[in-house]
Amino acid sequence: MPKKIRLGVLGGGGDSLIGVLHRVASHINDNYEIVGGCFNPDFKANKAFAREIDVPLNRIYSDFDTLIEEELKLPENERIEVCSVLTPNFLHFPMAKKLLDNGFHVICEKPMTTTLEEAKILQKAHKKSGKVFALTHTYTGYPMVRQMREMIKKGAIGKIHKVDAQYYQGWINEIIHDKKLRSTVWRLDPKKAGISSCMGDIGVHAFNMVEYTTGLKVKSLLSDFNYLYKDNKMDVDGTVLIRMDDHVKGVIRSSQVATGDENGLSISIYGAKASFHWEQENPNFLYVKSDTQPMQVYKPGHAYNSKLSLDGTKLPAGHPEGIFDSMANIYLGAAKAIRGKRYNDGEFPTMEDGVRGMNFIEATVESNKKKNIWVKMMK
Ligand SMILES: NC(=O)c1ccc[n+]([C@@H]2O[C@H](COP(=O)([O-])OP(=O)(O)OC[C@H]3O[C@@H](n4cnc5c(N)ncnc54)[C@H](O)[C@@H]3O)[C@@H](O)[C@H]2O)c1
Repeated sequence: MPKKIRLGVLGGGGDSLIGVLHRVASHINDNYEIVGGCFNPDFKANKAFAREIDVPLNRIYSDFDTLIEEELKLPENERIEVCSVLTPNFLHFPMAKKLLDNGFHVICEKPMTTTLEEAKILQKAHKKSGKVFALTHTYTGYPMVRQMREMIKKGAIGKIHKVDAQYYQGWINEIIHDKKLRSTVWRLDPKKAGISSCMGDIGVHAFNMVEYTTGLKVKSLLSDFNYLYKDNKMDVDGTVLIRMDDHVKGVIRSSQVATGDENGLSISIYGAKASFHWEQENPNFLYVKSDTQPMQVYKPGHAYNSKLSLDGTKLPAGHPEGIFDSMANIYLGAAKAIRGKRYNDGEFPTMEDGVRGMNFIEATVESNKKKNIWVKMMK
């Protein structure tokens, strides 16, 4: 067994939503060991959490600048090799850039940055660094999402005509109607989240899913947002019409005020021969429908699945794997890249996905602002 990859963590403290997903995922395939980090800007809370999860206190730093400075003093064979950036959005860019500039690999949460301009700067820094950069669009790690991608590549559903991706949540409903409460949420603060709440937080996942599964690029889009209140600067709901390569048309629907909805990411892809339907809340079922045959259901772990899909399954068919495993698959792909091993296209989302994600977010905001006009995306 090769030595474990020394992982540092920025953000993702005990008070966070996503920290536990990354910590568990990083351990699942036995590739990483968390050796240090800065989980929280409050040093006391930072250390208390490190104690709780048993990370040595001498590698817990008061901020990310100190982490980089102190880690660079260590011999290379002890130093953190890769850092996971799990903070609110506005810190992704400064953290990821400084890490890459100083020779660390980076695993970064989405949205990659807060602007397209930052994303392009980060892309340059990444190229220059020669280091690995993985973006955690978690849902691309699901075996059945990977299966969809591989089957589409092989022409299983024929020429694609229409794509319909939806990401509906309801949690902001409990917050948005109260002015005071609204000001306590970083996702509704443009200084911390960037220019969009709903599209930036979850619409971008749906966008990534559309491009990941179809292999096609969105060329232009038209969006219509809902802010619900005049004094709320951030979208909490939006519908986006998309035009893709190959004359494919579609829609991305995203909401944080879909009352009662939990984490409702789903996608339907309609081709000339058949169509796919997949839902995040039931991730082990991939539905294939056609006009001439009964509906088929693909499930993980069966030999009929593609290599990319099977590589993301650890147990025999019938043992449900879920969101932790999906994120673990992204960590697994990143580990292969960090170790200089061969890995397949699609094993983890990349810098290019991050740049396109930021392009998508800004284009949707621009379209809505300009009274719902068509806006072109970069090639
Ligand atoms: N991939 C996914 O499916 C997914 C899901 C949820 C969140 N996210 C992304 O993950 C990121 C974090 O989201 P969250 O919901 O966990 O946020 P959160 O507010 O729950 O947690 C943020 C964490 O960052 C820490 N933090 C804040 N400032 C810091 C600093 N200066 N230095 C070190 N740590 C700091 C906080 O103490 C906290 O532990 C966001 O970018 C979000 O978009 C991704």
